[in-house]
Amino acid sequence: MTNTIYVLNGPNLNLLGLREPEIYGSDTLDDIAGMLEDRARELGLSVDMRQTNHEGMLVDWLHEAQAEGAKAVLLNAAAYTHTSIALLDAIKAIRTPVIEVHISDPMTREEFRHISYVGMAAKKTVQGLGAKGYVAALEAAAEL
Ligand code: DQA
Repeated sequence: MTNTIYVLNGPNLNLLGLREPEIYGSDTLDDIAGMLEDRARELGLSVDMRQTNHEGMLVDWLHEAQAEGAKAVLLNAAAYTHTSIALLDAIKAIRTPVIEVHISDPMTREEFRHISYVGMAAKKTVQGLGAKGYVAALEAAAEL
């Protein structure tokens, strides 16, 4: 196993900072990558941060995380969280632990966000903490 944590981000998260800032805040994905890199250095970890708008790419990256011996995956699958049986199956198909991350708290939002296929297989869920939730999830991954 390596010390690398894959941080996988799904659709529309490339627009963080601009997108509905009243819900998601003003930090961009690059800002979050910077926070994660700083904390990862302190924890002796390295971070491989990615974003895609395509569901199958997230599936491929989950498989890759296992093939490359990643220590863990932090996954914010965004809207695919609530729809994707393919992601549920991919998380179940790999032994690499996956921690689910959401900036907002989907459970306090519209009902269609209350189901999480990712959460059905993830080791842990961090949600509603804003961008800092990624750092909290990294700290949880360091303990695994
Ligand atoms: C999100 C919550 C999802 O419900 C939503 O579709 C997103 C972002 C979050 O980080 O709060 O795109 O995953």
